[in-house]
Amino acid sequence: MPQPFTILATLRLFPEAASTLAPRTDWLFTYLMIVAVFFTLLISALIVGFAVKYRRSRRPAADQTVSNLKLEMLWIVIPLVLVLVAFTWGAQLFVDYSSPPPGARTVYVIGKQWMWKVYHPEGHMENNQLHVARGRPVRLTLMSDDVIHSFFVPAFRVKRDAVPGMYTTLWFEPTRTGRFDLYCAEYCGTNHSRMIGEIVVLEPEAFEQWLSEGEDIPLAEQGRRVFAQFGCGDCHSATSGKRGPALDDLFGRRVQLASGETVLADENYIRESILNPARRLVAGYEELMPTYERQLDEESVIALVAYLKSLSQEASSK
Ligand code: CUA
Repeated sequence: MPQPFTILATLRLFPEAASTLAPRTDWLFTYLMIVAVFFTLLISALIVGFAVKYRRSRRPAADQTVSNLKLEMLWIVIPLVLVLVAFTWGAQLFVDYSSPPPGARTVYVIGKQWMWKVYHPEGHMENNQLHVARGRPVRLTLMSDDVIHSFFVPAFRVKRDAVPGMYTTLWFEPTRTGRFDLYCAEYCGTNHSRMIGEIVVLEPEAFEQWLSEGEDIPLAEQGRRVFAQFGCGDCHSATSGKRGPALDDLFGRRVQLASGETVLADENYIRESILNPARRLVAGYEELMPTYERQLDEESVIALVAYLKSLSQEASSK
């Protein structure tokens, strides 16, 4: 049985910090905790102190005090400053947490009952494991095949829901090599508690080595094959008689819709346009495209998205 002192010595307030966001999150949390503990102690002490000092047996009824401007300013200004600090600090952190750095490597993750499936752009596929390189930002595009799951890595201080029907994103930059726990943090059925995995952080050279193992077909190439298999190019090409818009430099561009709005052609828009083309129709085109909802699984859609992304990368590098 562990001795009380060894328990105390191993008691940690936070899980280990292994990403660039982790120490920043911990500092904010520490600030909030210090403020909360300080005021809890102060107010408890005042309640007890006043209860003793002004107890009935010692004093007749108190005189009525109408106002005390100094005191009132004090308890308005101090809390205001404290919460504004928490707000600006938290908002800043939230913005950084929500904006992956431009050079981040995109990895696709699908949650399904009850496992995490990981698709690397180079074609590697993993189950309940994600290999990444230390010091390199990774951007995850999350998706669910069934119910809502939540991708949670305590050591990185990141958590994001994987939702059926849309992509969500999350990013992190590991600062330490090692293995870190990955959890599903949203109750998703019988084996929710077993929906666990690990993030394996390698040194960049070791990661490159890991990536070069095996003969995988890159995701974009898989997407090109799906594109060909379903005959997408019959309509979506420069020579197709303009039945559908050309897709060469679509990704990341703003698209004019038939409704008069414009929309950014991101991963979510492309996914939606494949599965539900009529929903946000491009201006100048008729509603000809059928839905591919029943014919394509999420893996194929991810591959198609990766393919279209690679097309516009080619277009922009020309
Ligand atoms: Cu998936 Cu809980």
